[in-house]
Amino acid sequence: KRSYSIAVIAGDGIGKEVMPEGVRALEAASAAFGFQLDLKWHEFSSCDYYLKHGQMMPDDWKQQIGPVDAIFFGAVGWPETVPDHISLWQSILQFRREYDQYVNLRPVRLMPGVPCPLAGREPGDIDFWVVRENTEGEYSSVGGHMFPGTDREIVIQETVMTRLGVDRVLRYAFDLASKRERKHVTSATKSNGIAITMPFWDSRVEAIAAEYAGVSHDKYHIDILAAQFVMNPQRFDVVVASNLFGDILSDLGPACTGTIGVAPSANINPEGAFPSLFEPVHGSAPDIAGQGIANPVGQIWSAAMMLEHLGETAAAASVLAAIEETLVSANGRTRDLKGNASTEECGKAVASLIA
Ligand code: NAD
Ligand code: IPM
Ligand code: MN
Repeated sequence: KRSYSIAVIAGDGIGKEVMPEGVRALEAASAAFGFQLDLKWHEFSSCDYYLKHGQMMPDDWKQQIGPVDAIFFGAVGWPETVPDHISLWQSILQFRREYDQYVNLRPVRLMPGVPCPLAGREPGDIDFWVVRENTEGEYSSVGGHMFPGTDREIVIQETVMTRLGVDRVLRYAFDLASKRERKHVTSATKSNGIAITMPFWDSRVEAIAAEYAGVSHDKYHIDILAAQFVMNPQRFDVVVASNLFGDILSDLGPACTGTIGVAPSANINPEGAFPSLFEPVHGSAPDIAGQGIANPVGQIWSAAMMLEHLGETAAAASVLAAIEETLVSANGRTRDLKGNASTEECGKAVASLIA
């Protein structure tokens, strides 16, 4: 009997609104495809938890999560009450590091029926993956803050790249490209200006590319790469980037396809030594939280990526097909996509189509 234990962490803001729709899709898939789900909801990793306990998570959070098959995550952050660098470093960024989820895999795909902000683009024109390094790079805790509050104040934050850390995410990107039709990797760099770490990154791209004879590759500096996402998105197949560059590209890409509200992500530990974590790309959206209008598709598509990861390939495909069918009608689309559906209406529409 196929059975999966999953930790469910909704978090803050619209995380609490889109998570029930993600779970609705999972339950529909479980009923339709005959596998069992053991979902365990956690209150921690939220700013509400922080206000009660003075920290985002209990000291024994790892034991509380336990040996799960995957983590299903919403969004964290409520800057009005907890500074973002505290709430995020004590939650999602800690999961990524502690569980060594060194790949952050984020699709960029123009879906049928979705109004595209780029003129003349059709579904099929924009369909690529961003592979983001997820545990090191610009997101480092190496640095210092001297003479705070004085006119001699100095702040330093180092970028950390290790050969192991760079090589393994590059290999993941080249492996992924080798299984796709176009077999092409684009690397995001900035070796003209960031003159120590980025030339190193470029040299590792060349070294890893040499292992993949069937995969072509090129590189762009991050500034012009951002422009190319807008001008020529059809160029891309697999885009591999450092932590910060990948973060920016994985909001820019989905924005070019209509909204960041549909974008999912998989934070993967490819070796399976630790659980992988699935979450929408977007955050807690305090500006629209509490109104029931958030787009739940990013959360639901993240459920599809999780099912794929668990080996439930048919269920994953069915969830994605249900999303596509729902997005075609204005009654299924939320406001960010010029539709009139509420979060729940969109989520129910998707769930009803999963079979
Ligand atoms: P955000 O992604 O929360 O919102 C950016 C804009 O996109 C807002 O206008 C928002 O209304 C809109 N938006 C986002 N998701 C949407 C959806 N599903 N449907 C419709 N509209 C949507 O980014 P932000 O405003 O920079 O950050 C808000 C908080 O979320 C901060 O605390 C930030 O640190 C946190 N954050 C958390 C995560 C995460 O948990 N992984 C990711 C990004 C930001
Ligand atoms: C993301 C988010 C996080 C990141 C923030 C909230 C720390 O923007 O998942 O893309 O920068 O990785
Ligand atoms: Mn981001």
